[in-house]
Amino acid sequence: MKYQVNGNTEGVRDAMLARLDSLYSYELEDGEFLPRELMKMLAECSCALNREIAVYLTRDGEIVNVAIGTDCDVELTDFRLRRNENRLSMVRCVHTHPDGDGHLSDVDLSALKIFRYDAMTAVGVKNGEPTFVQTAFLGENGTLLIPETARWYQLPEKEWLDQIELSDSLVGREEAQKVRHEREKAVLMGIESRESLEELRRLAETAGAEVAGMFLQKRDKPDSALFIGRGRAEELARDCQALEADVCIFDEELTGIQTRNLEEILRLKVIDRTALILDIFAQRASSAEGKLQVELAQLQYRSARLIGQGLVLSRLAGGIGTRGPGESKLEMNRRRIRERVTELRRRLDELEKQRAVRRKSRERNDVPVVALVGYTNAGKSSLLNALTGADVYAEDQLFATLDAVSRRMETPEKTPYLLTDTVGFIRKLPHTLISAFRSTLEEAALADVLVIVSDGASQDMLTQHDTVEQVLEELGATEQKRIEVINKCDLADPDPAFPGAVMISAKTGNGLEELKAAIASALQETYEPVTFIIPFSRYGILSELHSLGRVIREEHTESGTELTVMMAREDTERMVRKHGPDILKREEE
Ligand code: GTP
Repeated sequence: MKYQVNGNTEGVRDAMLARLDSLYSYELEDGEFLPRELMKMLAECSCALNREIAVYLTRDGEIVNVAIGTDCDVELTDFRLRRNENRLSMVRCVHTHPDGDGHLSDVDLSALKIFRYDAMTAVGVKNGEPTFVQTAFLGENGTLLIPETARWYQLPEKEWLDQIELSDSLVGREEAQKVRHEREKAVLMGIESRESLEELRRLAETAGAEVAGMFLQKRDKPDSALFIGRGRAEELARDCQALEADVCIFDEELTGIQTRNLEEILRLKVIDRTALILDIFAQRASSAEGKLQVELAQLQYRSARLIGQGLVLSRLAGGIGTRGPGESKLEMNRRRIRERVTELRRRLDELEKQRAVRRKSRERNDVPVVALVGYTNAGKSSLLNALTGADVYAEDQLFATLDAVSRRMETPEKTPYLLTDTVGFIRKLPHTLISAFRSTLEEAALADVLVIVSDGASQDMLTQHDTVEQVLEELGATEQKRIEVINKCDLADPDPAFPGAVMISAKTGNGLEELKAAIASALQETYEPVTFIIPFSRYGILSELHSLGRVIREEHTESGTELTVMMAREDTERMVRKHGPDILKREEE
C-alpha cells in the first residue's frame, strides 16, 4: 500500500490519504497534549470525509497510527508500547466525532479500559471546525477519571499531561503490588562456578524471585549468539518449561542479541546478572541521589541493548529486570534516553557539588572518618548498629544498605570520629554501577581508616575479600590504615585468615571492645600532642581546638589559655594556616 493510513480508506482520494499520511512525520512539542493546528487539520479531514479519524500519540509526541472510520465509529486498536499489559500503554488515542458532539461514548471509555491508553480524547467537529473536547484517564482499580469538557482552543494541556503521569503511577503502583505478591519463578544458568551460581540464587531471592532450578555448564568461552550454545539452550528451554519458570537468569552479562536469541528459544523473559543487581538496587535506593544513580546506571545498561524488543518480550509482563527506582520510566526510545541521561547527569553533578561542600565543612571541623567496607551481607550494618546503637536496616538479604550512613562516635580518649557504613561489594559488580555509585563509594575512599569486614561464616570469605580489595583499588582507596575484621564468629570457628584480624560477632557483641580499641589506636597513630597558647581576645579558637581532638591539659596563664591537644598533623597545619603561627606555643616559652 502506498499510504500507511489504516481503517476504512475505501473511496478516499489520494490527496486526502497523502494529507493524513503526512501526520506520521508530525511531532508534538514538549508540553503539548493536542496542538490546535493538529486538531484543525483532523477536523477538516473528518468533515470532508464525514468519517471519524483516530490518531495515536506516544508520550514522545510522535504519531504512531492514523486510521479512518465510518461516520459514527473508528476501530480502536491496541497500540501498546509497553510489555506489561496491565500498565498504561504509553499511547493516547485522539479521535474525531463528526456529529459535533465532543463527549466520549461508552465504546470510547471501554476501549480506554481494555487497551489501557494513556488517555482517550474525543474532538467534536462541526462545519469543518473543532467544537469541544473531552478526555478520560484511567484511575486506580479500573476506575475512570473524566474531567469536564473543554473548548477546543482552551485545552488544559499541562493538566492533562500531568494526569497521564499520575494515572501511570497509580496503575504502576497497583501493578507493582501485584507483582510483589506473585513471586516470579526463576531458573538460573551459570557458566563459571557453583559459588557464583549460589550467590546468584541469593541475589534472585533478594529481588523477590522463587528459584525453581539452577544449572551450571562450565564453559571457557561463551557462544556469541546464544551464550551457552544451541543444544544446551534447547535443553534449557525444556527444563524451564518443566519447572514452569517465568524468567531465566544468566550468571554473566549478556549482549542484547544473546538476550533476544535466548528469549526466542526459551520463550520466556531472560535477564542477566547485571540487570538483576540493577533491579535490586532500583528497589532499594532510598535517597534522592541513590535513585538518580540507579536510574542512570539502568538507562546506560539498557541503551546499549536497545535492539527492538523481541516478539516474546512484547507479550511479557513486568517484574524483575523491568523495574526502575520510584516512578521512573524505563521504557523509552533512544532520544528520550539520551535526554534523560543528560538530565540525570546534570542533577547528579549538582548533588555532587553539594556533597563536596558538605565534605569540605566536615574537613573544616575535621572529624576523622572510619568507613566500614566489605562484601555484601558481611554484617556491616549490624556492626554499625552494635557499635553505635544506631538503627540501621540490617537484613539477611544482599544490598540491604545502599546509601552511606554515618554516625558520630568517640574513642575512649574522647577523639571524635565518624563511623560510616557503605554499600556492600559483590563479585562481577556491574561497571555501570561502580561508576554510578562512585560518589557514595568515595566516602570509603576518603576515609582515614578502613575497617574491612569479612563474613567469617562464609565459605568464600577469601574470594570475597579479594573482590573487596579490587573494588577498593579501583576507587583509589589504597593508602589508608586498614583494620581487618572477621565477623560472625558466633557461627563459625574463627579462622584468623588475615594477620592481626580482630575476631568479632556483631550479634553477640564479642570482640567489639577490642575493635573499638583498634579503631582508637589507628586514629591515635596519626595524632600527636600539640600545645597552643590562645590569647583571651581570641577565645573562639579554643572551642575549635576542643572539637578537633582530645584535650590533655588546659591551663589559664597571663598571656592566655594554654592547651595541649592530641591532634592530627594536618589539623595542626590547618589551624596554623587559618589563625597564624602565633597560636603555637614555642619551645623556649
Ligand atoms: P549489605 O547491606 O548487603 O552490604 O549487608 P551488610 O554487610 O550491611 O550486612 P547486614 O548487617 O545487613 O547483615 C547481614 C546478615 O548477617 C543479617 O541477617 C545479620 O543479622 C547477620 N549478621 C550480622 N552480623 C552477624 C553476626 O555476628 N553473627 C550472626 N550470626 N549473624 C550476623
